[in-house]
Amino acid sequence: MDDKKGRILTGHRPTGPRHIGHLVGTLQTWAQLQDTYECFFLIADLHVMTTDFAHPERIPQNTLEVVTDWLAAGIDPRRSTLVLQSMVPQHAQLAMLFSMLVTVARLERNPTYKEQVQQLNLQPSLGLLSYPVLQASDILVYRADTVPVGEDQLPHLELAREIARRFNQTYSPFFPEPQALLSSTPRLPGTDNRTMHTSYGNAIFLGDSPEETTRKVMDMYTDPTRLRATDPGHVEGNPVFSYMEVFNPDTAEVDDLKQRYREGKVGDVAVKRRLAEVMNTYLEPIRRRRADLVRNPGAIIELLLEGTKSALPVAQATLEEAQERMGLHLAAGRRYEISGPSTTPLFGTFC
Ligand code: TRP
Repeated sequence: MDDKKGRILTGHRPTGPRHIGHLVGTLQTWAQLQDTYECFFLIADLHVMTTDFAHPERIPQNTLEVVTDWLAAGIDPRRSTLVLQSMVPQHAQLAMLFSMLVTVARLERNPTYKEQVQQLNLQPSLGLLSYPVLQASDILVYRADTVPVGEDQLPHLELAREIARRFNQTYSPFFPEPQALLSSTPRLPGTDNRTMHTSYGNAIFLGDSPEETTRKVMDMYTDPTRLRATDPGHVEGNPVFSYMEVFNPDTAEVDDLKQRYREGKVGDVAVKRRLAEVMNTYLEPIRRRRADLVRNPGAIIELLLEGTKSALPVAQATLEEAQERMGLHLAAGRRYEISGPSTTPLFGTFC
């Protein structure tokens, strides 16, 4: 892959089906990056356990949902590598080694951790505290240099860089300091204008039918200050127009609708009807691919497992290099020599 700009690792926790916020903010970017980078796309099923460990029934179903939606959105397993984290034990092994290089105090200062602890009714687990150490390992076990993520992941990426630096300084230069690649698309709000979230009831899913999509659009929050269609309306902060800008390629029509809305010359219902139309047109090819995929779930799992299998030797090679540099020569399968005053040297190979 010498013709590529670099190597990407990014991924999602398998939390459920993907929605249009994932699509326009993330998945379309990933799909495009496949042209210029060597890409690894990770299903972070160990990370999801930090919050969902008591619900083992959810993990396989959600994994299937996520991979299906990724493929429907244009992730191409012929060009990129899909990885199931829990099936590549090197992720956990390298994370264990990395855990020596970061203090508990540093992890406790992580803003994401602090937030989660506040929301939790439980005592935080060691797994939750070390979440970013595992994430650093996800990236560095493939020696990826580029990580397309949302802003919320920046604290984790900073930690990954610190760990890489610490390793390189303590032993010898080996890991790249991975850089975040932030999405330039603004985040799509939920249909109720809060953050779009799988479990808030405010998401439009890639798997929703056109009818379902239309229904959700017709129920959308708009401008709460506008009581009649003849009242002047607000376009800014109105999710119907945020969606219109993303899904309607006809910018002249969008500008015209905005102007008429501001002047009280077009009603919410008419704008929503038009939005439902343009969204259904936009989503049609993705839905078609998705409908083909769900006919054969076994084949989807097979693609995930094939990718995972091809990732194993890459991860193993990195792990062995890291082990050897950290003094675990035997674990790295290197030739060893034991000598003592009264014995002849012994030679052997561990594999
Ligand atoms: N923490 C990421 C999220 O919640 C998921 C993730 C796990 C990830 N490992 C990663 C993202 C490595 C980028 C790189 O979305």
